[in-house]
Amino acid sequence: MIVALTGASGAAYGLRLIQRLATAGIFQHILLSDAARVVLKQESGLALPDTTSLTPALSEHLNISDELMRCYALDDWFSPAASGSAGIKKMVVIPCSMGTLARISSGASDNLIERAADVMLKERRQLILVPRETPLSTIHLENMLKLSRLGAHIIPAMPGFYHRPRTLDEIIDFLVNRVLDHLDFPNPEAQKWGG
Ligand SMILES: Cc1cc2nc3c(=O)[nH]c(=O)nc-3n(C[C@H](O)[C@H](O)[C@H](O)COP(=O)(O)O)c2cc1C
Repeated sequence: MIVALTGASGAAYGLRLIQRLATAGIFQHILLSDAARVVLKQESGLALPDTTSLTPALSEHLNISDELMRCYALDDWFSPAASGSAGIKKMVVIPCSMGTLARISSGASDNLIERAADVMLKERRQLILVPRETPLSTIHLENMLKLSRLGAHIIPAMPGFYHRPRTLDEIIDFLVNRVLDHLDFPNPEAQKWGG
């Protein structure tokens, strides 16, 4: 599957999802926008190298095997994410900026994240978007409505508090668990309502 991080606040959600999927043995194609790198630096103090050495740097930071992930440059049009024929079935954009959301909803396909999302939509495969912004403008809401009608799952970065989180990690996991539920991966760690 594909995991893309863009320049909305909440880089930690993306990093946690990558970690959880790797722990489950899922191979991931990882895409990072330039703005995602800026946010990662700001929010996690994590300065990542360019794409050529990104895979080992990210896997080391997350303490996961580099055999379970591969990072691509955003103009790598020969990568599997760029074509429906590669057969990738699922994609998550987490966090998803309003800019990327708008460009996906317009079909811009101007970088590999937008192209990969466009492929998911045209192939009727699973696309999960985790948008983060507040307040939301009418443009943001219309873009989300359009993408929802096209079959994308909109899972906004809106953690609940009814499970009484005590740490930031628990708040992050709440949202990541919702994403994992929608991906249909076994997720015994998730607290179920009424469970
Ligand atoms: C620290 C920081 C936080 C940001 N938070 C958000 C946000 O929560 N939502 C959003 O849509 N954009 C946010 N932005 C702005 C985006 O990064 C900017 O619009 C960028 O062009 C998005 O590019 P991308 O979609 O290619 O990642 C933030 C930028 C920075 C530096």
